[in-house]
Amino acid sequence: MKTSKATAVAPSNIAFIKYWGKKDEVLRIPENGSVAMTLDKLTTTTTVEFGNDYQDDEVLIDGEVVVGKERERVVEHLDRVRSMAGINERARVVSKNSFPKSKGLSSSASGFAALTVAASNAAGLRLSERELSMLARLGSGSACRSIPSGFVEWVAGNSHETSYAKTIYPADHWDLVDVVVVTDSEKKHVSTTEGQKLAAGSPFYGVRLQGIEEKLILMKQYIKDKDFTAFGELCEREALEMHAVMLTSSPPLLYWQPATVRVMQAVQQWRREGLESYFTLNTGQDVHVLCERGIKKELEKKLRFLNGVQGIQVCQSSAGACLIGEHLF
Ligand code: DP6
Repeated sequence: MKTSKATAVAPSNIAFIKYWGKKDEVLRIPENGSVAMTLDKLTTTTTVEFGNDYQDDEVLIDGEVVVGKERERVVEHLDRVRSMAGINERARVVSKNSFPKSKGLSSSASGFAALTVAASNAAGLRLSERELSMLARLGSGSACRSIPSGFVEWVAGNSHETSYAKTIYPADHWDLVDVVVVTDSEKKHVSTTEGQKLAAGSPFYGVRLQGIEEKLILMKQYIKDKDFTAFGELCEREALEMHAVMLTSSPPLLYWQPATVRVMQAVQQWRREGLESYFTLNTGQDVHVLCERGIKKELEKKLRFLNGVQGIQVCQSSAGACLIGEHLF
């Protein structure tokens, strides 16, 4: 069996209609579909090499040896690839993020997408985009949306084969900008995987699901039409509805920091004053401020002045996960 080394780079993605709650924990089949955009400035690069010389799987992320649960999750993913390829060799995995991991910036999405593409190629597998998306989903649900390019939809499905993400519009369809605002450098306390298990306990979970099909249809239509106002209003409503479920789970999940709320309120205030942008947020303390290209500079400047803002990344949609020739070791 010939094995080799491969390196992949994958973007993170920001969901406009969110994934929060699973029908199947093991297969990570979501309760509902989601719509997102890949992010060009938030990427993970990963090199994987399988070989007989390795006694055990070695995992390094951002220069640190990874242990415990985080390592286990990577090893489980390598096991999936090994079993698909029919190999037994252990691997060395070296990964580098363009942003701090384990915060609200969905590093698991770009991380598992890059790992999927690098590991499957290093193991000699040649998978289609759909198969890569399915495989990435088993590592972390949102990672399936970081395989295809541009504006993407994760079709919820009801089995391993039917749950995957695909491009609905290419990256250059719309020059939408996501100004990612980092408001706190602490790691989040409850992981998304743990948090999602609590979702069904919220009295609003069912209410949210009742309206989700309509929201998916509307979101795709607004992106198609590049109707920024309708798109932005729906993004904010969706993010707040997801957080309503989080806040009313048991125990409640309150992911916001004072600066998170400050950014959200500033965005709404500036909008009243004529600067049109909208926020969306995931589980972390970071806020994604969505705008059209014309106002990104002004918006970025105003955001930098807010108390508690620690960093800003101005992102647009990008290509999906792909192989690159330059290895990390
Ligand atoms: C709030 O993909 O991190 O960012 O499948 O358990 O790894 P696991 O969950 P994950 O959840 C992401 C949740 C979210 C919303 C979203 O990105 O759709």
